[in-house]
Amino acid sequence: MHYKKRTCTCGELRSSDVGKTVTLTGWVDTRRDLGGVVFIDLRDRYGKTQVVFNPQTSPDAHGTAGELRSEYVISVTGKVEYRPAGTENPSLATGSIDVMATELTILNRADTPPFPIEDEIDVHEEMRLQYRYLDLRRAPMQKNLITRHKMYLITRNYFDGQGFVEVETPVLMKSTPEGARDYLVPSRVHHGKFYALPQSPQTYKQILMVAGMDRYFQIVKCFRDEDLRADRQPEFTQIDVEMSFADEQDVQNVVEGLMTRFFKELNGVDVPKPFPRLTYKEAMETYGSDKPDTRFDLKFTNVNGLVQDSGFKVFSEMVKKGGVVAGFVAPGCGNYTRNQLDVLTDFAKKLGAGGLIWMRVTEAGVEAPIEKFVGKDGLNAIGQAMHAKPGDLILVLSDTWTKCHMLLGALRLEMARRLELIDGTKNNLLWVTDFPMFEYDEKDKRYVAMHHPFTSPKLEDVHLLDSDPSKACARAYDLVLNGNEIAGGSIRIHDRGLQSKVFGLLGINEEQAKKKFGFLLDAFRFGAPPHGGIAFGFDRICMLLNGEKSIRDVIAFPKTTSAMSLMDDSPSEVDPDQLKELHIKIV
Ligand code: AMO
Repeated sequence: MHYKKRTCTCGELRSSDVGKTVTLTGWVDTRRDLGGVVFIDLRDRYGKTQVVFNPQTSPDAHGTAGELRSEYVISVTGKVEYRPAGTENPSLATGSIDVMATELTILNRADTPPFPIEDEIDVHEEMRLQYRYLDLRRAPMQKNLITRHKMYLITRNYFDGQGFVEVETPVLMKSTPEGARDYLVPSRVHHGKFYALPQSPQTYKQILMVAGMDRYFQIVKCFRDEDLRADRQPEFTQIDVEMSFADEQDVQNVVEGLMTRFFKELNGVDVPKPFPRLTYKEAMETYGSDKPDTRFDLKFTNVNGLVQDSGFKVFSEMVKKGGVVAGFVAPGCGNYTRNQLDVLTDFAKKLGAGGLIWMRVTEAGVEAPIEKFVGKDGLNAIGQAMHAKPGDLILVLSDTWTKCHMLLGALRLEMARRLELIDGTKNNLLWVTDFPMFEYDEKDKRYVAMHHPFTSPKLEDVHLLDSDPSKACARAYDLVLNGNEIAGGSIRIHDRGLQSKVFGLLGINEEQAKKKFGFLLDAFRFGAPPHGGIAFGFDRICMLLNGEKSIRDVIAFPKTTSAMSLMDDSPSEVDPDQLKELHIKIV
Protein backbone atom coordinates (compact mmCIF):
# COMPACT_ATOMS: atom_id res chain seq x y z
CA MET A 1 0.00 0.00 0.00
CA HIS A 2 1.29 3.44 -0.96
CA TYR A 3 1.04 6.01 1.75
CA LYS A 4 2.64 9.28 2.60
CA LYS A 5 5.50 8.93 5.07
CA ARG A 6 5.38 11.25 8.06
CA THR A 7 7.11 14.60 7.91
CA CYS A 8 6.92 15.04 11.67
CA THR A 9 5.80 13.17 14.76
CA CYS A 10 2.59 13.63 16.74
CA GLY A 11 4.42 15.47 19.52
CA GLU A 12 6.26 17.99 17.43
CA LEU A 13 4.03 20.72 16.04
CA ARG A 14 3.85 24.17 17.68
CA SER A 15 2.41 27.62 16.83
CA SER A 16 5.60 28.34 14.89
CA ASP A 17 4.61 25.60 12.43
CA VAL A 18 1.32 27.27 11.47
CA GLY A 19 0.96 27.45 7.70
CA LYS A 20 3.05 24.33 6.98
CA THR A 21 1.63 21.30 5.21
CA VAL A 22 2.55 18.19 7.16
CA THR A 23 1.98 14.44 7.19
CA LEU A 24 1.47 12.56 10.44
CA THR A 25 1.23 8.81 11.04
CA GLY A 26 0.01 7.06 14.14
CA TRP A 27 -2.90 5.56 16.02
CA VAL A 28 -6.35 7.11 16.45
CA ASP A 29 -6.56 7.95 20.13
CA THR A 30 -10.06 9.44 20.18
CA ARG A 31 -12.62 10.46 17.59
CA ARG A 32 -15.37 13.01 18.10
CA ASP A 33 -17.99 14.00 15.57
CA LEU A 34 -19.14 17.55 16.30
CA GLY A 35 -21.85 18.76 14.00
CA GLY A 36 -20.41 17.15 10.92
CA VAL A 37 -16.80 18.10 11.67
CA VAL A 38 -14.71 15.12 12.80
CA PHE A 39 -11.94 15.65 15.36
CA ILE A 40 -9.38 12.99 16.12
CA ASP A 41 -6.42 12.92 18.44
CA LEU A 42 -3.64 11.14 16.61
CA ARG A 43 -1.12 9.41 18.86
CA ASP A 44 2.40 8.08 18.57
CA ARG A 45 5.27 7.63 21.02
CA TYR A 46 6.06 11.34 20.84
CA GLY A 47 2.66 12.77 21.72
CA LYS A 48 -0.78 13.59 20.39
CA THR A 49 -1.97 16.02 17.76
CA GLN A 50 -5.54 17.07 17.05
CA VAL A 51 -6.56 16.54 13.42
CA VAL A 52 -9.71 18.14 12.05
CA PHE A 53 -11.72 16.76 9.11
CA ASN A 54 -14.02 19.38 7.68
CA PRO A 55 -16.47 18.36 4.92
CA GLN A 56 -16.06 21.80 3.34
CA THR A 57 -12.25 21.72 3.01
CA SER A 58 -11.88 18.07 2.08
CA PRO A 59 -15.01 15.98 1.50
CA ASP A 60 -12.95 12.84 0.64
CA ALA A 61 -10.85 12.87 3.78
CA HIS A 62 -13.94 13.73 5.81
CA GLY A 63 -15.80 10.81 4.29
CA THR A 64 -13.06 8.34 5.18
CA ALA A 65 -12.74 9.87 8.67
CA GLY A 66 -16.27 8.62 9.34
CA GLU A 67 -14.85 5.08 9.33
CA LEU A 68 -12.13 5.80 11.90
CA ARG A 69 -12.24 4.02 15.24
CA SER A 70 -9.87 3.90 18.19
CA GLU A 71 -6.48 2.36 17.40
CA TYR A 72 -6.85 2.50 13.61
CA VAL A 73 -3.46 3.23 12.07
CA ILE A 74 -3.52 6.13 9.63
CA SER A 75 -1.47 8.54 7.61
CA VAL A 76 -2.93 12.02 7.41
CA THR A 77 -1.82 15.11 5.53
CA GLY A 78 -3.01 18.64 6.16
CA LYS A 79 -2.22 22.21 7.01
CA VAL A 80 -1.20 23.38 10.48
CA GLU A 81 -3.53 26.10 11.80
CA TYR A 82 -3.95 27.96 15.06
CA ARG A 83 -6.72 26.51 17.18
CA PRO A 84 -9.65 28.94 17.42
CA ALA A 85 -9.22 31.29 20.40
CA GLY A 86 -10.41 29.68 23.62
CA THR A 87 -10.03 26.09 22.37
CA GLU A 88 -6.29 25.75 23.02
CA ASN A 89 -5.26 22.87 25.27
CA PRO A 90 -2.36 23.96 27.47
CA SER A 91 -1.93 20.45 28.92
CA LEU A 92 -0.93 19.14 25.47
CA ALA A 93 2.44 20.14 23.96
CA THR A 94 0.75 20.51 20.57
CA GLY A 95 -2.34 22.09 22.13
CA SER A 96 -2.13 25.43 20.34
CA ILE A 97 -2.54 24.00 16.84
CA ASP A 98 -4.77 21.76 14.72
CA VAL A 99 -3.94 19.92 11.53
CA MET A 100 -6.73 20.58 8.99
CA ALA A 101 -6.75 17.28 7.09
CA THR A 102 -6.72 17.21 3.30
CA GLU A 103 -5.74 13.55 2.76
CA LEU A 104 -6.34 10.45 4.84
CA THR A 105 -5.14 6.89 4.32
CA ILE A 106 -6.25 4.10 6.63
CA LEU A 107 -3.15 1.89 6.99
CA ASN A 108 -4.77 -0.65 9.24
CA ARG A 109 -8.03 -1.24 11.04
CA ALA A 110 -8.16 -2.42 14.65
CA ASP A 111 -10.51 -4.44 16.78
CA THR A 112 -11.91 -2.64 19.78
CA PRO A 113 -9.16 -2.93 22.39
CA PRO A 114 -10.08 -4.77 25.61
CA PHE A 115 -9.15 -1.69 27.62
CA PRO A 116 -8.69 1.95 26.71
CA ILE A 117 -5.21 3.23 25.84
CA GLU A 118 -5.16 5.85 28.57
CA ASP A 119 -2.73 6.93 31.28
CA GLU A 120 -4.93 5.77 34.15
CA ILE A 121 -6.83 2.54 33.60
CA ASP A 122 -8.78 0.40 35.99
CA VAL A 123 -8.15 -3.09 34.69
CA HIS A 124 -6.67 -6.31 36.07
CA GLU A 125 -2.95 -6.66 35.55
CA GLU A 126 -3.53 -10.09 33.92
CA MET A 127 -5.42 -8.32 31.13
CA ARG A 128 -2.61 -5.79 30.71
CA LEU A 129 -0.03 -8.58 30.53
CA GLN A 130 -2.05 -10.61 28.04
CA TYR A 131 -2.36 -7.62 25.70
CA ARG A 132 1.02 -6.17 26.62
CA TYR A 133 1.42 -4.45 23.22
CA LEU A 134 -1.68 -2.39 24.00
CA ASP A 135 -0.55 -1.76 27.56
CA LEU A 136 2.82 -0.59 26.26
CA ARG A 137 1.06 1.88 23.96
CA ARG A 138 0.05 3.84 27.07
CA ALA A 139 2.18 6.93 27.73
CA PRO A 140 3.27 6.03 31.31
CA MET A 141 4.55 2.65 30.14
CA GLN A 142 6.39 4.23 27.22
CA LYS A 143 7.94 6.72 29.63
CA ASN A 144 9.13 3.84 31.83
CA LEU A 145 10.78 2.05 28.90
CA ILE A 146 12.41 5.29 27.76
CA THR A 147 13.80 5.91 31.26
CA ARG A 148 15.13 2.37 31.19
CA HIS A 149 16.82 3.05 27.86
CA LYS A 150 18.39 6.21 29.30
CA MET A 151 19.62 4.18 32.27
CA TYR A 152 21.46 1.82 29.89
CA LEU A 153 23.14 4.81 28.24
CA ILE A 154 24.08 6.51 31.51
CA THR A 155 25.42 3.21 32.87
CA ARG A 156 27.57 2.45 29.84
CA ASN A 157 28.92 6.00 29.58
CA TYR A 158 29.63 6.17 33.28
CA PHE A 159 31.52 2.89 33.53
CA ASP A 160 33.40 3.53 30.30
CA GLY A 161 34.48 6.89 31.73
CA GLN A 162 35.75 5.12 34.85
CA GLY A 163 37.87 2.66 32.87
CA PHE A 164 35.53 -0.33 33.11
CA VAL A 165 35.15 -2.80 30.25
CA GLU A 166 31.83 -4.49 29.46
CA VAL A 167 32.30 -8.22 28.97
CA GLU A 168 29.47 -10.62 28.14
CA THR A 169 29.40 -13.83 30.13
CA PRO A 170 27.59 -17.05 29.14
CA VAL A 171 23.89 -17.62 29.58
CA LEU A 172 24.38 -21.36 29.45
CA MET A 173 26.63 -22.23 32.34
CA LYS A 174 27.41 -24.77 35.02
CA SER A 175 24.81 -25.14 37.71
CA THR A 176 26.23 -23.51 40.85
CA PRO A 177 23.16 -22.64 42.92
CA GLU A 178 23.72 -19.40 44.81
CA GLY A 179 20.72 -19.26 47.07
CA ALA A 180 17.77 -19.56 44.75
CA ARG A 181 16.89 -22.52 42.54
CA ASP A 182 18.53 -22.70 39.11
CA TYR A 183 16.68 -22.73 35.82
CA LEU A 184 18.02 -25.78 34.01
CA VAL A 185 18.50 -26.34 30.29
CA PRO A 186 18.96 -29.95 29.12
CA SER A 187 21.82 -30.69 26.76
CA ARG A 188 20.87 -32.55 23.59
CA VAL A 189 24.43 -33.56 22.83
CA HIS A 190 25.37 -34.73 26.32
CA HIS A 191 22.64 -37.05 27.52
CA GLY A 192 21.53 -36.49 31.07
CA LYS A 193 23.54 -33.30 31.46
CA PHE A 194 22.24 -29.84 32.04
CA TYR A 195 23.29 -26.25 31.72
CA ALA A 196 21.96 -23.74 34.21
CA LEU A 197 20.94 -20.18 33.48
CA PRO A 198 23.07 -17.85 35.60
CA GLN A 199 21.60 -16.57 38.87
CA SER A 200 24.30 -13.93 38.41
CA PRO A 201 27.66 -13.89 36.60
CA GLN A 202 29.40 -14.08 40.00
CA THR A 203 31.97 -16.77 39.22
CA TYR A 204 32.68 -15.44 35.74
CA LYS A 205 33.34 -11.93 36.93
CA GLN A 206 35.76 -13.20 39.55
CA ILE A 207 37.52 -15.23 36.87
CA LEU A 208 37.72 -12.08 34.72
CA MET A 209 39.68 -10.51 37.58
CA VAL A 210 42.07 -13.46 37.55
CA ALA A 211 42.25 -12.85 33.80
CA GLY A 212 43.55 -9.36 34.48
CA MET A 213 40.54 -7.38 33.18
CA ASP A 214 40.92 -5.16 36.27
CA ARG A 215 37.57 -3.35 35.98
CA TYR A 216 34.54 -5.19 34.57
CA PHE A 217 30.89 -4.31 34.27
CA GLN A 218 27.95 -5.78 32.41
CA ILE A 219 24.26 -5.06 31.99
CA VAL A 220 23.13 -8.63 32.28
CA LYS A 221 20.08 -10.85 32.59
CA CYS A 222 19.98 -13.11 35.66
CA PHE A 223 17.62 -15.99 36.29
CA ARG A 224 16.35 -17.25 39.63
CA ASP A 225 13.61 -19.76 40.22
CA GLU A 226 12.33 -18.30 43.47
CA ASP A 227 9.05 -17.14 44.97
CA LEU A 228 8.10 -13.93 43.22
CA ARG A 229 6.93 -10.63 44.63
CA ALA A 230 6.33 -7.09 43.41
CA ASP A 231 10.07 -6.46 43.39
CA ARG A 232 11.19 -9.87 42.12
CA GLN A 233 11.11 -11.46 38.70
CA PRO A 234 12.40 -14.87 37.59
CA GLU A 235 14.52 -13.11 34.99
CA PHE A 236 15.76 -9.69 35.91
CA THR A 237 18.57 -7.35 34.99
CA GLN A 238 21.67 -6.49 36.98
CA ILE A 239 24.41 -3.98 36.46
CA ASP A 240 27.18 -6.30 37.47
CA VAL A 241 30.52 -4.85 38.57
CA GLU A 242 33.88 -6.25 39.67
CA MET A 243 37.15 -4.46 40.47
CA SER A 244 40.67 -5.69 41.19
CA PHE A 245 42.87 -4.27 43.94
CA ALA A 246 39.80 -2.59 45.40
CA ASP A 247 38.41 -2.36 48.92
CA GLU A 248 34.91 -1.57 50.15
CA GLN A 249 35.38 2.16 49.82
CA ASP A 250 36.56 1.91 46.20
CA VAL A 251 33.51 -0.12 45.18
CA GLN A 252 31.16 2.15 47.11
CA ASN A 253 32.64 5.30 45.54
CA VAL A 254 32.00 3.92 42.07
CA VAL A 255 28.43 3.01 43.03
CA GLU A 256 27.71 6.42 44.56
CA GLY A 257 28.97 8.07 41.37
CA LEU A 258 26.51 6.12 39.22
CA MET A 259 23.55 6.59 41.57
CA THR A 260 24.04 10.36 41.72
CA ARG A 261 24.22 10.44 37.91
CA PHE A 262 20.93 8.51 37.66
CA PHE A 263 19.19 10.89 40.04
CA LYS A 264 20.59 14.01 38.43
CA GLU A 265 20.15 13.04 34.80
CA LEU A 266 16.81 11.27 35.08
CA ASN A 267 15.02 13.13 37.86
CA GLY A 268 16.99 16.38 38.15
CA VAL A 269 17.70 15.62 41.81
CA ASP A 270 21.02 16.21 43.60
CA VAL A 271 21.75 13.40 46.04
CA PRO A 272 24.46 14.26 48.55
CA LYS A 273 27.56 12.05 48.76
CA PRO A 274 28.84 10.12 50.62
CA PHE A 275 25.68 8.15 51.35
CA PRO A 276 25.02 7.48 55.04
CA ARG A 277 26.15 4.15 56.46
CA LEU A 278 24.59 1.85 59.03
CA THR A 279 25.97 -1.44 60.21
CA TYR A 280 23.67 -4.44 59.94
CA LYS A 281 23.42 -4.46 63.73
CA GLU A 282 22.44 -0.79 63.88
CA ALA A 283 19.94 -1.21 61.06
CA MET A 284 18.27 -4.17 62.75
CA GLU A 285 18.26 -2.70 66.25
CA THR A 286 17.01 0.71 65.12
CA TYR A 287 14.67 -0.08 62.23
CA GLY A 288 14.18 -3.85 62.34
CA SER A 289 15.35 -4.38 58.77
CA ASP A 290 18.56 -4.87 56.81
CA LYS A 291 17.01 -2.56 54.20
CA PRO A 292 15.58 0.15 56.44
CA ASP A 293 13.29 2.86 55.14
CA THR A 294 14.77 5.91 56.85
CA ARG A 295 12.33 8.41 55.37
CA PHE A 296 10.55 8.36 58.73
CA ASP A 297 11.71 7.77 62.30
CA LEU A 298 9.74 5.39 64.57
CA LYS A 299 13.10 4.16 65.88
CA PHE A 300 13.28 1.36 68.42
CA THR A 301 14.38 1.49 72.03
CA ASN A 302 15.70 -1.57 73.81
CA VAL A 303 14.24 -1.82 77.32
CA ASN A 304 15.97 -5.03 78.43
CA GLY A 305 17.62 -3.19 81.32
CA LEU A 306 14.26 -1.88 82.55
CA VAL A 307 12.34 -5.16 82.43
CA GLN A 308 14.89 -7.85 83.25
CA ASP A 309 13.87 -7.91 86.90
CA SER A 310 10.21 -6.99 86.42
CA GLY A 311 7.34 -9.15 87.58
CA PHE A 312 6.25 -9.59 83.99
CA LYS A 313 7.61 -13.06 83.28
CA VAL A 314 7.26 -12.83 79.50
CA PHE A 315 9.77 -9.97 79.53
CA SER A 316 12.13 -11.03 82.30
CA GLU A 317 12.42 -14.61 81.02
CA MET A 318 13.10 -13.39 77.50
CA VAL A 319 15.95 -11.21 78.72
CA LYS A 320 17.33 -14.14 80.75
CA LYS A 321 17.23 -16.34 77.63
CA GLY A 322 19.34 -13.76 75.79
CA GLY A 323 16.39 -12.29 73.89
CA VAL A 324 15.27 -8.74 73.40
CA VAL A 325 12.45 -6.58 74.72
CA ALA A 326 12.13 -3.49 72.57
CA GLY A 327 9.55 -1.18 71.10
CA PHE A 328 8.75 2.17 69.60
CA VAL A 329 6.40 5.10 70.02
CA ALA A 330 3.47 5.56 67.67
CA PRO A 331 2.99 9.31 68.01
CA GLY A 332 -0.54 10.52 68.74
CA CYS A 333 -2.02 7.01 68.81
CA GLY A 334 -2.71 6.97 72.55
CA ASN A 335 -6.43 7.18 71.83
CA TYR A 336 -6.54 4.02 69.71
CA THR A 337 -9.69 2.03 70.48
CA ARG A 338 -9.58 -1.51 71.79
CA ASN A 339 -10.59 -2.64 68.36
CA GLN A 340 -7.71 -0.80 66.66
CA LEU A 341 -5.29 -2.29 69.19
CA ASP A 342 -6.71 -5.77 68.54
CA VAL A 343 -6.11 -5.28 64.82
CA LEU A 344 -2.46 -4.36 65.50
CA THR A 345 -2.08 -7.32 67.85
CA ASP A 346 -3.50 -9.65 65.18
CA PHE A 347 -1.12 -8.13 62.63
CA ALA A 348 1.86 -8.91 64.89
CA LYS A 349 0.57 -12.39 65.72
CA LYS A 350 0.03 -13.28 62.09
CA LEU A 351 3.70 -12.49 61.51
CA GLY A 352 4.66 -14.83 64.32
CA ALA A 353 4.71 -12.64 67.45
CA GLY A 354 3.63 -14.26 70.71
CA GLY A 355 1.70 -11.10 71.51
CA LEU A 356 1.89 -7.33 71.39
CA ILE A 357 2.20 -5.20 74.49
CA TRP A 358 0.76 -1.71 74.19
CA MET A 359 0.87 1.24 76.59
CA ARG A 360 -1.00 4.53 76.45
CA VAL A 361 0.84 7.67 77.47
CA THR A 362 -1.42 10.13 79.35
CA GLU A 363 -0.82 13.36 81.27
CA ALA A 364 -0.96 11.18 84.36
CA GLY A 365 1.75 8.82 83.15
CA VAL A 366 1.90 5.57 81.22
CA GLU A 367 -1.10 3.21 81.44
CA ALA A 368 -1.21 -0.40 80.32
CA PRO A 369 -2.80 -3.75 81.19
CA ILE A 370 0.64 -5.01 82.28
CA GLU A 371 0.73 -2.38 85.06
CA LYS A 372 -0.21 -5.08 87.57
CA PHE A 373 3.07 -6.88 86.79
CA VAL A 374 5.53 -4.05 86.21
CA GLY A 375 4.02 -1.30 88.38
CA LYS A 376 3.41 2.34 87.59
CA ASP A 377 7.08 3.23 87.98
CA GLY A 378 8.08 0.44 85.65
CA LEU A 379 5.70 1.74 82.97
CA ASN A 380 6.81 5.33 83.42
CA ALA A 381 10.46 4.30 83.14
CA ILE A 382 9.69 2.65 79.79
CA GLY A 383 7.82 5.76 78.67
CA GLN A 384 10.77 7.92 79.62
CA ALA A 385 13.32 5.68 77.92
CA MET A 386 11.25 5.91 74.72
CA HIS A 387 10.84 9.69 74.99
CA ALA A 388 7.07 9.21 74.73
CA LYS A 389 4.73 12.16 75.16
CA PRO A 390 1.15 12.32 76.44
CA GLY A 391 -1.15 11.17 73.64
CA ASP A 392 1.35 8.63 72.31
CA LEU A 393 1.06 4.86 72.11
CA ILE A 394 3.97 2.59 72.94
CA LEU A 395 4.25 -0.79 71.22
CA VAL A 396 6.55 -3.41 72.71
CA LEU A 397 7.56 -6.90 71.59
CA SER A 398 9.79 -9.54 73.13
CA ASP A 399 11.50 -12.35 71.27
CA THR A 400 14.92 -13.53 70.10
CA TRP A 401 17.19 -10.76 68.80
CA THR A 402 16.43 -11.43 65.14
CA LYS A 403 12.74 -12.15 65.47
CA CYS A 404 11.95 -9.28 67.83
CA HIS A 405 13.60 -6.76 65.53
CA MET A 406 12.11 -8.24 62.36
CA LEU A 407 8.60 -8.19 63.84
CA LEU A 408 9.05 -4.65 65.11
CA GLY A 409 10.34 -3.73 61.65
CA ALA A 410 7.13 -4.98 60.03
CA LEU A 411 5.01 -3.20 62.66
CA ARG A 412 7.02 0.00 62.15
CA LEU A 413 6.27 -0.04 58.40
CA GLU A 414 2.61 -0.77 59.08
CA MET A 415 2.33 2.17 61.52
CA ALA A 416 4.15 4.46 59.07
CA ARG A 417 1.59 3.54 56.41
CA ARG A 418 -1.34 4.06 58.78
CA LEU A 419 0.00 7.39 59.99
CA GLU A 420 1.06 8.41 56.47
CA LEU A 421 4.56 9.21 57.68
CA ILE A 422 6.32 8.25 54.45
CA ASP A 423 7.48 11.34 52.56
CA GLY A 424 7.36 10.30 48.90
CA THR A 425 9.61 13.18 47.85
CA LYS A 426 12.60 11.87 49.80
CA ASN A 427 15.34 9.75 48.23
CA ASN A 428 17.06 8.07 51.14
CA LEU A 429 20.06 6.14 49.95
CA LEU A 430 22.19 4.38 52.51
CA TRP A 431 24.75 1.64 52.84
CA VAL A 432 24.21 -1.28 55.17
CA THR A 433 27.59 -2.79 56.09
CA ASP A 434 29.14 -5.37 58.41
CA PHE A 435 26.72 -8.17 57.65
CA PRO A 436 27.35 -11.42 59.49
CA MET A 437 29.17 -14.01 57.35
CA PHE A 438 26.63 -16.72 58.12
CA GLU A 439 23.02 -17.24 59.02
CA TYR A 440 22.09 -20.40 60.87
CA ASP A 441 19.43 -22.36 59.03
CA GLU A 442 17.31 -23.93 61.78
CA LYS A 443 15.57 -26.24 59.33
CA ASP A 444 18.71 -27.70 57.77
CA LYS A 445 20.75 -27.29 60.98
CA ARG A 446 23.67 -25.67 59.20
CA TYR A 447 25.22 -22.32 58.33
CA VAL A 448 24.33 -20.63 55.07
CA ALA A 449 26.18 -17.69 53.56
CA MET A 450 24.41 -14.42 54.25
CA HIS A 451 25.69 -12.95 50.96
CA HIS A 452 27.37 -15.74 48.97
CA PRO A 453 30.13 -18.29 49.57
CA PHE A 454 32.80 -16.14 47.89
CA THR A 455 32.44 -13.24 50.32
CA SER A 456 35.49 -12.49 52.45
CA PRO A 457 35.24 -12.27 56.21
CA LYS A 458 36.58 -9.10 57.81
CA LEU A 459 40.28 -9.67 58.23
CA GLU A 460 40.08 -9.10 61.98
CA ASP A 461 37.33 -11.75 62.17
CA VAL A 462 39.13 -14.55 60.32
CA HIS A 463 40.09 -16.20 63.64
CA LEU A 464 36.37 -16.40 64.55
CA LEU A 465 35.86 -18.89 61.71
CA ASP A 466 37.54 -21.43 64.02
CA SER A 467 36.06 -20.33 67.35
CA ASP A 468 32.60 -18.82 66.71
CA PRO A 469 31.69 -18.44 63.03
CA SER A 470 28.31 -16.94 63.91
CA LYS A 471 30.11 -13.84 65.20
CA ALA A 472 32.26 -13.28 62.11
CA CYS A 473 31.38 -10.23 60.01
CA ALA A 474 31.61 -10.21 56.23
CA ARG A 475 33.14 -7.58 53.97
CA ALA A 476 29.68 -7.26 52.43
CA TYR A 477 27.54 -4.21 51.76
CA ASP A 478 24.06 -3.51 50.45
CA LEU A 479 22.77 -0.28 48.99
CA VAL A 480 19.27 0.65 50.11
CA LEU A 481 16.91 3.20 48.60
CA ASN A 482 13.75 4.06 50.53
CA GLY A 483 13.53 0.63 52.10
CA ASN A 484 14.46 -1.34 48.96
CA GLU A 485 17.64 -3.32 48.49
CA ILE A 486 18.91 -1.98 45.17
CA ALA A 487 22.46 -3.36 45.15
CA GLY A 488 24.54 -5.88 47.03
CA GLY A 489 28.16 -6.90 46.90
CA SER A 490 31.31 -7.75 48.77
CA ILE A 491 35.06 -7.98 48.80
CA ARG A 492 35.85 -11.57 47.82
CA ILE A 493 38.04 -14.26 49.14
CA HIS A 494 41.04 -14.55 46.81
CA ASP A 495 42.92 -17.12 48.86
CA ARG A 496 42.26 -20.81 48.21
CA GLY A 497 42.86 -21.81 51.81
CA LEU A 498 40.39 -19.30 53.21
CA GLN A 499 37.89 -20.22 50.49
CA SER A 500 38.13 -23.90 51.44
CA LYS A 501 37.58 -23.05 55.09
CA VAL A 502 34.44 -21.05 54.30
CA PHE A 503 33.15 -23.83 52.05
CA GLY A 504 33.78 -26.21 54.94
CA LEU A 505 31.71 -24.09 57.32
CA LEU A 506 28.93 -24.03 54.74
CA GLY A 507 28.97 -27.81 54.70
CA ILE A 508 30.62 -28.01 51.28
CA ASN A 509 33.40 -30.56 51.56
CA GLU A 510 36.59 -30.69 49.50
CA GLU A 511 35.10 -33.07 46.93
CA GLN A 512 31.83 -31.16 46.54
CA ALA A 513 33.73 -27.86 46.29
CA LYS A 514 35.87 -29.33 43.54
CA LYS A 515 32.84 -30.59 41.66
CA LYS A 516 30.87 -27.35 41.98
CA PHE A 517 33.48 -24.61 41.96
CA GLY A 518 36.64 -26.45 40.89
CA PHE A 519 37.09 -24.09 37.93
CA LEU A 520 37.13 -21.07 40.25
CA LEU A 521 39.46 -22.70 42.76
CA ASP A 522 41.73 -23.76 39.90
CA ALA A 523 41.79 -20.19 38.61
CA PHE A 524 42.79 -19.01 42.08
CA ARG A 525 45.97 -21.12 41.79
CA PHE A 526 47.26 -18.91 39.02
CA GLY A 527 47.52 -15.50 40.63
CA ALA A 528 44.17 -14.12 41.74
CA PRO A 529 44.33 -10.42 42.59
CA PRO A 530 42.42 -9.13 45.62
CA HIS A 531 39.06 -8.13 44.22
CA GLY A 532 35.51 -7.16 45.03
CA GLY A 533 32.37 -5.90 43.42
CA ILE A 534 28.68 -5.39 43.52
CA ALA A 535 25.52 -5.90 41.46
CA PHE A 536 22.69 -3.40 41.10
CA GLY A 537 19.09 -4.49 40.69
CA PHE A 538 18.48 -2.59 37.46
CA ASP A 539 14.72 -3.14 37.38
CA ARG A 540 14.27 -2.08 40.99
CA ILE A 541 16.21 1.14 40.45
CA CYS A 542 14.21 1.87 37.32
CA MET A 543 10.97 1.20 39.23
CA LEU A 544 11.95 3.57 42.04
CA LEU A 545 13.20 6.31 39.73
CA ASN A 546 9.87 6.15 37.88
CA GLY A 547 7.83 6.16 41.09
CA GLU A 548 6.35 2.74 40.24
CA LYS A 549 5.33 0.15 42.81
CA SER A 550 6.04 -3.00 40.78
CA ILE A 551 9.08 -3.94 38.72
CA ARG A 552 6.67 -5.44 36.20
CA ASP A 553 5.86 -1.87 35.16
CA VAL A 554 9.42 -1.20 34.02
CA ILE A 555 9.95 -4.51 32.21
CA ALA A 556 8.59 -4.74 28.69
CA PHE A 557 7.46 -8.36 28.91
CA PRO A 558 7.41 -9.48 32.55
CA LYS A 559 6.14 -12.67 34.12
CA THR A 560 3.30 -12.94 36.61
CA THR A 561 3.93 -13.85 40.24
CA SER A 562 3.43 -17.46 39.19
CA ALA A 563 6.22 -17.07 36.60
CA MET A 564 3.86 -17.11 33.60
CA SER A 565 4.11 -14.98 30.51
CA LEU A 566 0.45 -14.36 29.73
CA MET A 567 1.02 -12.82 26.32
CA ASP A 568 2.81 -15.78 24.71
CA ASP A 569 1.51 -18.32 27.22
CA SER A 570 4.82 -19.64 28.47
CA PRO A 571 5.90 -21.93 29.96
CA SER A 572 4.13 -24.30 27.60
CA GLU A 573 4.20 -27.95 26.65
CA VAL A 574 6.66 -28.94 23.97
CA ASP A 575 6.57 -31.31 21.07
CA PRO A 576 7.15 -34.97 22.11
CA ASP A 577 9.91 -35.15 19.49
CA GLN A 578 11.78 -32.35 21.22
CA LEU A 579 11.62 -34.27 24.48
CA LYS A 580 12.74 -37.46 22.81
CA GLU A 581 15.76 -35.76 21.35
CA LEU A 582 16.66 -34.56 24.84
CA HIS A 583 16.03 -37.99 26.37
CA ILE A 584 13.50 -36.46 28.73
CA LYS A 585 10.34 -38.18 29.89
CA ILE A 586 7.52 -36.31 31.65
CA VAL A 587 6.29 -38.42 34.54
P1 AMO B 1 22.30 -10.19 44.87
O1 AMO B 1 21.76 -11.57 44.88
O2 AMO B 1 22.23 -9.38 46.13
O3 AMO B 1 23.86 -10.19 44.52
O4 AMO B 1 21.64 -9.39 43.70
C1 AMO B 1 21.98 -8.04 43.42
C2 AMO B 1 20.73 -7.19 43.28
O5 AMO B 1 19.87 -7.72 42.29
C3 AMO B 1 18.52 -7.43 42.63
N1 AMO B 1 17.73 -8.68 42.59
C4 AMO B 1 16.57 -8.85 41.94
N2 AMO B 1 15.82 -8.01 41.23
C5 AMO B 1 14.68 -8.48 40.68
N3 AMO B 1 14.25 -9.74 40.79
C6 AMO B 1 14.97 -10.65 41.50
N4 AMO B 1 14.53 -11.93 41.58
C7 AMO B 1 16.18 -10.22 42.13
N5 AMO B 1 17.12 -10.81 42.89
C8 AMO B 1 18.05 -9.87 43.15
C9 AMO B 1 18.52 -6.79 43.99
C10 AMO B 1 19.87 -7.14 44.53
O6 AMO B 1 20.35 -6.16 45.43
N6 AMO B 1 26.45 -11.81 42.52
C11 AMO B 1 25.94 -10.97 43.60
C12 AMO B 1 26.50 -9.57 43.55
C13 AMO B 1 27.92 -9.43 44.02
O7 AMO B 1 28.29 -10.00 45.08
O8 AMO B 1 28.67 -8.70 43.34
C14 AMO B 1 24.44 -10.90 43.49
O9 AMO B 1 23.83 -11.32 42.55
O10 AMO B 1 18.40 -5.39 43.84
